[in-house]
Amino acid sequence: MSSSHGIAIALFCIAFLLGGISVSHAQLSSTYYDETCPNVTSIIRGVIDNALLSDPRIGASLLRLHFHDCFVNGCDGSILLNNSDTIESEKEAARNNNSVRGFGVVDDIKTALESACPSIVSCADILTIAAEESVSAAGGPSWTVLLGRRDGTTANRTGADISLPSAVDTLDTLKEVFLAVGLNTTDLVSLSGAHTFGRAQCPTFSGRLYDFNSTGSPDDTLNSTYLETLQGICPQNGNETGLANLDLTTPDTFDNNYFSNLQLENGLLQTDQELFSTTGADTIDIVNSFSSDQSAFFASFVESMLKMGNISVLTGSEGEVRLNCGIVNADSSRSESFLHSSTETRDNTEYKSAI
Ligand code: HEM
Repeated sequence: MSSSHGIAIALFCIAFLLGGISVSHAQLSSTYYDETCPNVTSIIRGVIDNALLSDPRIGASLLRLHFHDCFVNGCDGSILLNNSDTIESEKEAARNNNSVRGFGVVDDIKTALESACPSIVSCADILTIAAEESVSAAGGPSWTVLLGRRDGTTANRTGADISLPSAVDTLDTLKEVFLAVGLNTTDLVSLSGAHTFGRAQCPTFSGRLYDFNSTGSPDDTLNSTYLETLQGICPQNGNETGLANLDLTTPDTFDNNYFSNLQLENGLLQTDQELFSTTGADTIDIVNSFSSDQSAFFASFVESMLKMGNISVLTGSEGEVRLNCGIVNADSSRSESFLHSSTETRDNTEYKSAI
């Protein structure tokens, strides 16, 4: 495990023991908006379907937003908050900046919902529903989500640096990062199956292509044909602006090909391939079973998504329902000129230093 993660997890545990981090008991319900916003799911699905027409990647990006929200301060919509006088945004934390995307679509969803049922649907629940709808729109499972999350009024940039996994973490570190939020090894493997769609930028995997771990050679768990393809996308000493599909076989479809890719050493990220190529790892059998049985993968993915969506949620009178997903309500009435909204521009030099 990397020393930064080790220290981070130790600090998390100390903070937990001192009571600095509260774990709320979820009281989510599948019928939460039945009376107050009965069309919430179809409204969200409509915005996503429309966005998919011009951006086939957007579903993957929305699923990732939910993941990065839930792993930091729980599923409280904190990833959506912009910098302000009181907020140090998570979206500009090293592992999010110039990487997570989809904020504009979340804003479009929020606008549509504020028009249909004002002040009712939290931004945290929008991310939850958008994740499920994005998966089903791409051919994956659909499931009944639990709702009633409230939005947090703070962001935690340091938490984002600590709690989000890195693409170069070892398998042991990945397990620890997941365990820190109550997710086990099966959850790690099934949720990694989200890399069945979406893209990754060169800096997240180019360390494998030429001089892996200062060996002077590529990662030897990378299929040689695939290696050549990836070297074409990210030339040595190039500008690293290339994008690769996380799933080389069916890039925009949510299926179990991610797992058969791993069996052929066609995993894109180091952390993907480690699930299958780490000698003696207990994840290998899970990869094999998901590869041979898509229904088993889907069932496990749904179960793990429900667990992830339950991480430290705010319910009842905790938090608030934000009116604008990027701004806490107390700041909404103030001039927006003090906001320093993050953009989705790409500066790979900066992102590379964060991998
Ligand atoms: C196991 C640890 C994980 C690591 C190390 C990891 C790392 C990454 C990285 C580095 C990227 C590419 C980002 C970029 O190039 O800007 C990515 C993309 C993505 N990740 Fe993960 N991830 C992990 C787990 C997950 C989980 C649990 C989910 C969801 C349940 C997820 C969903 C996605 C999706 C859908 C994309 C593509 C996003 C897009 O195209 O915009 N990942 N991930």
